[in-house]
Amino acid sequence: MPSVNGLADIVAAETELSMVDGQRGRLVYRGYEAPALAKTRRFSEVAHLLWTGRLPDPSELRELETQLTEARTLPPEIVAILDALPPEVDMMSALRTAVSAIRPRQIWPPTIEDATRIAGMMPTIVAYRHAKVTGQTPVPPRLDLSHVANYLYMLNGRAPSEAHTRALEAYLILTIDHGLNASTFAGRVAASTQSDLSAALTAALAAMKGPLHGGAPSLVMDMLDEIGSRENAAPFLRAKLERGERLMGFGHRVYKTRDPRAEALRDIVIELTQADPWFDLAAHTETIALRLLEEYKPGRELYTNVEYWAAAILRTVEIPKPIYTATFSISRVVGWSAHVLEQAANNRLIRPQSTYVGPLPA
Ligand code: SDX
Repeated sequence: MPSVNGLADIVAAETELSMVDGQRGRLVYRGYEAPALAKTRRFSEVAHLLWTGRLPDPSELRELETQLTEARTLPPEIVAILDALPPEVDMMSALRTAVSAIRPRQIWPPTIEDATRIAGMMPTIVAYRHAKVTGQTPVPPRLDLSHVANYLYMLNGRAPSEAHTRALEAYLILTIDHGLNASTFAGRVAASTQSDLSAALTAALAAMKGPLHGGAPSLVMDMLDEIGSRENAAPFLRAKLERGERLMGFGHRVYKTRDPRAEALRDIVIELTQADPWFDLAAHTETIALRLLEEYKPGRELYTNVEYWAAAILRTVEIPKPIYTATFSISRVVGWSAHVLEQAANNRLIRPQSTYVGPLPA
């Protein structure tokens, strides 16, 4: 079986967008500590920072938020595509299909305006599709709510509380970019051929879907639902590890200490759900999982990753489980598109080597 080294520890590009320090458990966006931004800034401000390199002044912020708001109303051809997909087509496949059909106004090089337009469309694509496949009447976007509040409004049909809006906003800021993760790398490879922004984002969405990457939060929730009680955590997790299965929400290719995003999200969840027995189960399960991972996988430095407490945030703000990964994508589309812009400015085709291990003609 030919091996794949997974490009572990290979530096494929320089970037000014985010620094992921796996040894110290630190995440920096364009010179700012990500957890600090999550506590103090709006999602649109951090999006502006990623796309332009600067936090916006009030007039720049108003302009960006106007562009995001204008994009909320989907073009009829995107609605027609979503309506044409059978209900059994999962959300990430539907989102990927819809984004693939968005024609950038400028094919090459990509523009911040097109990135903003696609980022503005994605929450409506997800909310519209979710309503259709669950037999509900789609809730049209409101133009007077922020990007994040409007997403919750379209999903639940009522304006969200400030606490829920801030909790989801913090999650979306903490997941907006993360170096050359698998989906970002996929998007950069597509962009390196001078394809177009929608194509690059389609490649990124395809990679994001997998359970080893963005597909983990809903599986974390499934795991906690199956565990169900404190006393069941240890036997359940031990049985999984005995079967050689992975515990969703733990381990990371880069972080060899606690993921700073998991820490920040856990603090937010404690604020929101302290009295909730579910939080106690999640916290207890985390403790048991970390202990058992050390027992079964000594020295692998497996810690809680962002997805474990992301699942808790998304549950708390009542995001339906089937759209956890799509919600992650609503945030990461900013990072993906910022990387596409960075790649386009560099214009270097990404094309690594492989070692042939097959037979040779006699
Ligand atoms: C994200 O890259 C990013 O930045 C991603 C992300 C982002 O923001 O974009 O941070 C988001 O994707 C977070 C990760 C979400 N995925 C999961 O939670 C799924 C569970 N985690 C694993 O599958 C795993 O930890 C990965 C895929 C995340 C990382 O795997 P690596 O770096 O390729 O490590 P590996 O598969 O080589 O594992 C090393 C060892 C193996 O054991 P041995 O073969 O040495 O005996 O550790 C074991 C693995 O079996 N291991 C686990 C485990 N993760 C690794 N064992 C049990 N449970 C786990 N979760």
